[in-house]
Amino acid sequence: MNQNACKSTMKRFAAGIALVLMQSAAAVNAHAQTTIIREGNANVQLFDDNWKFSRYGLQPDGTKRPEPEGMEQPAWNDKDWTKLNLPHDWAIAGPFRIELAGKTGKLPWKAIGWYRKQFTIDKKDKGNRIFLDFDGAMAYAKIWVNGQYVGTWPYGYSSFRMDITPFVKTGQTNTVAVRLDTESWDSRWYPGAGIYRHVWLVKTAPVHTDHWGTTITTPEVTDSAATIQVAVKVSNQSKVTAQSKVTTEIFECTNGTQIGQQVGAIQETPVKVLADSAVVVANSIHLKQPQLWSLEKPALYIAKTTVHTNGSKPDIYYTTFGIRHLQFTARQGFLLNGKRTEIKGVCLHHDMGALGAAVNITALRRQLRIMKEMGCNAIRTSHNPPTPELLQLADEMGLLVWDEAFDAWKKPKLKNDYNKLFPEWHEKDLLALVHRDKNHPAVIIWSIGNEVMDQRDTALTHELAAIVQHADPTRPVSNGYNDPDGGRASGAATYLDIMGVNYFFSQQPKWDADPRYADKPTMGSETSSCVSSRGEYFFGTKYDHFQATSYDEAWPGWGCSPDEQFRTNAKYPHLLGEFVWTGFDYLGEPTPFNSDETNLLNFRTDSSKRKELEAALDAIRKKNPPSRSSYFGIVDLCGFPKDRYYNYQAHWRPELPMAHIMPHWNWPERIGQNVPVHVYTSGDMAELFVNGVSQGKKTKRPGEDFRLVWDSITYQPGEVKVVAYKNGQQWATDVVRTTGKMSKITLEPETNFLQADGTDLCYITVRICDNDNQLVPRSAVNLKFSITGPGEIVATDNGDATSFVPFSSTARPTFNGMAQVIVKGKKGHPGKITVSVQTDEGLQGSSTTVEAK
Ligand code: GAL
Repeated sequence: MNQNACKSTMKRFAAGIALVLMQSAAAVNAHAQTTIIREGNANVQLFDDNWKFSRYGLQPDGTKRPEPEGMEQPAWNDKDWTKLNLPHDWAIAGPFRIELAGKTGKLPWKAIGWYRKQFTIDKKDKGNRIFLDFDGAMAYAKIWVNGQYVGTWPYGYSSFRMDITPFVKTGQTNTVAVRLDTESWDSRWYPGAGIYRHVWLVKTAPVHTDHWGTTITTPEVTDSAATIQVAVKVSNQSKVTAQSKVTTEIFECTNGTQIGQQVGAIQETPVKVLADSAVVVANSIHLKQPQLWSLEKPALYIAKTTVHTNGSKPDIYYTTFGIRHLQFTARQGFLLNGKRTEIKGVCLHHDMGALGAAVNITALRRQLRIMKEMGCNAIRTSHNPPTPELLQLADEMGLLVWDEAFDAWKKPKLKNDYNKLFPEWHEKDLLALVHRDKNHPAVIIWSIGNEVMDQRDTALTHELAAIVQHADPTRPVSNGYNDPDGGRASGAATYLDIMGVNYFFSQQPKWDADPRYADKPTMGSETSSCVSSRGEYFFGTKYDHFQATSYDEAWPGWGCSPDEQFRTNAKYPHLLGEFVWTGFDYLGEPTPFNSDETNLLNFRTDSSKRKELEAALDAIRKKNPPSRSSYFGIVDLCGFPKDRYYNYQAHWRPELPMAHIMPHWNWPERIGQNVPVHVYTSGDMAELFVNGVSQGKKTKRPGEDFRLVWDSITYQPGEVKVVAYKNGQQWATDVVRTTGKMSKITLEPETNFLQADGTDLCYITVRICDNDNQLVPRSAVNLKFSITGPGEIVATDNGDATSFVPFSSTARPTFNGMAQVIVKGKKGHPGKITVSVQTDEGLQGSSTTVEAK
């Protein structure tokens, strides 16, 4: 019998094996294919439907509505409340208001929100434990059941469990009430508002695998064999000592949730658990010929843990995990399964553009797919715990994750940010993150913070790093510094396993030579911060009418071009890689048109730069910018690639033959004037032709050039063509042409089918085209969308960071020729859905049909 606490059996990064019971893969039987609903206790159901919602405190128009007392009581009359299903973001419907903060998207997210739901629990569940698992609720959640207070979890990004067993009546109607308060929260970006992630109802036997109660590690991994260490925390919530038996069977996992072939099992282990206590049972198993989790082939396994206790039904718990080996080195970078893997990452905030913060797995999958196609292999969950689905998708799709906890510690960036919660909650929130996410193979690095004001605080860094290292000794801990020299000089960074550097690499050689840091791997935890607006090109200026040029020549004082960052990376090839700020545009923080104070935070140490920035900020404030979402994205808020996308693709996917020309070629006002042409290509040389005439060949200097530039092209309408070469062979071409007049509107769905489950989405791209189906680049046409069949238009967008048209509107202009419609099917109603578009601006309407299945 092994009942070791899991922590005592593991070493950091290379856990030893606590033996253990073994069984060879060949000796076990196949298992009938089933699908798990989600990781964790098997008796789980989604608790999202049929909630009632009412908003108090600040209203969308800025007025105040008093909050009455007694709304947690079952008898409260909620007849007039809004009926809805979760996840729900009460602020995304808007309206955008010019006087609201740009940093949080000019959306009215501050309010007090109340949610209520009635539910029944079967008589036969008497004696079982009943829990509500919240994936995340923004913010200051307080929960009551049947009028009795259950508990609170203030940090809106943490997942948490409420044990409602003592308050629930079996065989009767129960009422749960949730109060959320975003008025007490401050944020540097749009945080969303409401129960914006899923809620789950979980039922277990009194003796069961605890919440996030399994820890699966793979301390020894080779191509031919792996050791899988399984620690199960068995919790006894009964009043008597339990004599239980624990087994864990291991299965292959297909499609992320399907239980496939059984490959091994840990034989039954008896365990004695005293009343109201928990015991960890740790075992190992050897697996021959394991399928390793890698970026190319992200193989997954499912562990099915069963706790048998006399007098109870067996308690079943599922854990998805992967077998892979991580090594972080100061000289050779990061090695995944022994293979040097440069981290080509992006930072992502948690919103999903026009959908706001309300989690949708199709939207998340799409975000990750777009990033992966660019060659991105890693996501930084800036700057908070992500929704669990993000990790599930990263596991399935083969993406690495830098999993981050906080944007503030004790010292505030904003008055009511995490500093208010820090004293009481930092340990609980950190543990909630690590315990929840520890089995995801995608998660490779924990981050305790981002540019926190106390980043030089040695004791605090030590304390936070130790909490994480203790909870998970198998992964490194990092912190993102915007004052990396201060962080290192103070000694704070010695407590980290990985040094995270945001933007400032100039002192890298000095620290590489310092004995305290020479062996510390370093990560570009945030890089570039280039800003651009899709389809906007300026000559002689970087910014105009609150847009940023797409020549990728604009960034704030702390940032640089992607090209410059690639040059820096080439100079320090021993670094682990980079996380670009950001992959997607996001709601809020519309730098350089962010008139709020948060920009100043980037220059705490350089007083002259800070002064410059203060002056710039004053100037912006005078202009009262309408900007409400970021310009940092490599893709816009719709997910439409900006030109930068092709810069990253050229660099990150060198094997993909591609070339991309910018700008477009519709400049009637610049005939005879200069229009520079830039080309991103994965080739090493290219020749440019304007109207068939060669403009000469340009060659990239390795490690120096990441775009090819023809600066002195004189504009004449017609055609620009580039022919790229690699190693002397023709490699890729691209062409842009002066288009004809606008003549049609095209609607292009990204998928032809969607699930009729009330969740799945279909994204439709709208383009204004000429007769030859070419996008008319600068067109702004007012469009009206309509829908027939079993579906609804949930949002529209066009990627314009200054638009005040609410996302829920079915009328929207195109921005530089493009717009987007997001459609959802009706639950349980398969059929054909037709989306149509009309305009009063002289173009024929059109339509497209997708099928809900
Ligand atoms: C960083 C910060 C990010 C974002 C970014 C904008 O310093 O960590 O959250 O504000 O600047 O460039």
